[in-house]
Amino acid sequence: MKKIAILTSGGDAPGMNAAIRAVVRTAIYHHLDVVGVIRGYNGLIQGDMKPMDLASVSDIIHRGGTILYSARSKEFKTEEGQKKAVQQLKNAGVDGLVVIGGDGSFRGAQKLSQLGIKTIGIPGTIDNDISCTDYTIGFDTVVNTVLDAISKIRDTSSSHERTNIIEVMGRNCGDIALYAGLAGGAEAIIVPEKGFDIEAVCKKILQGKARGKRHSIVLLAEGEGNAYDVGKHIQQKTGIETRATILGYIQRGGSPSAFDRILASKMGSMAVELLLDDKTSRVICIRNNHYVDIDIDEALSMKKQFNDNFYELSQILSI
Ligand code: F6P
Repeated sequence: MKKIAILTSGGDAPGMNAAIRAVVRTAIYHHLDVVGVIRGYNGLIQGDMKPMDLASVSDIIHRGGTILYSARSKEFKTEEGQKKAVQQLKNAGVDGLVVIGGDGSFRGAQKLSQLGIKTIGIPGTIDNDISCTDYTIGFDTVVNTVLDAISKIRDTSSSHERTNIIEVMGRNCGDIALYAGLAGGAEAIIVPEKGFDIEAVCKKILQGKARGKRHSIVLLAEGEGNAYDVGKHIQQKTGIETRATILGYIQRGGSPSAFDRILASKMGSMAVELLLDDKTSRVICIRNNHYVDIDIDEALSMKKQFNDNFYELSQILSI
């Protein structure tokens, strides 16, 4: 192994830069050359790569986004696109590739491994929807961003005695809503994994009101509905005034938390070590506080486990 490449792909996530820094610095420590691929798989197909030295990753550990830019590449899903990408890597003399991204990005990494490029995946997405790892890079930061928003919305919700619905990202995964809702003391958490039972949610809000609660917060995962529709339903059923907030892309930005920076640093460094050991087709995960690597096929075939325990806890604590 003499030269490796690194790319970020899919939705960006806070901590991606810390992972890029760790890959570059660990590689240089081990006397490898490193190139950064610009704009994910789109850039790879076009051969858009730049050499990375120690200074190229200075002053980025605290920055959200990705200095390598990101994309969701349609072309790379085609066989032709994949072959072009392999050729570009060969032309550039690259022996190994580190891909930071989500499930879709790992499918790309799987293809490249099958086509003979040594590839390692690092889970980077705010959604925390990658089954093989307890946490993805960016998740802890987004939970804190949402928590900050909940605290602010709580102020006005209480002043006006309203029910406020807060819609968060996560695609089909309810983890952002669950963790932020639990930490923020939400009265109800609506996630795809559990479905939306309007009767149960309204009953809870009304019971709370009867006991003297003057307002409530409902956390809604984007995969289970739209905050405005849910707000209208709740208002019709309870007679309580509702307001809706869709947090949107504010969730994807911001300085990564200490947890995400450490996760990213360790995973980035491990990815290089795996390539140095001539490993390919592996995904790095954190499980029960241990860093491990597993086969990419296995990683992609696993089913995400929802944290029922935290969901039940949130139900108990919001009676
Ligand atoms: O996967 C991260 C994510 O932010 C999801 O939570 C969201 O549904 C999606 O990306 C938005 O994607 P885009 O940036 O393509 O609009």
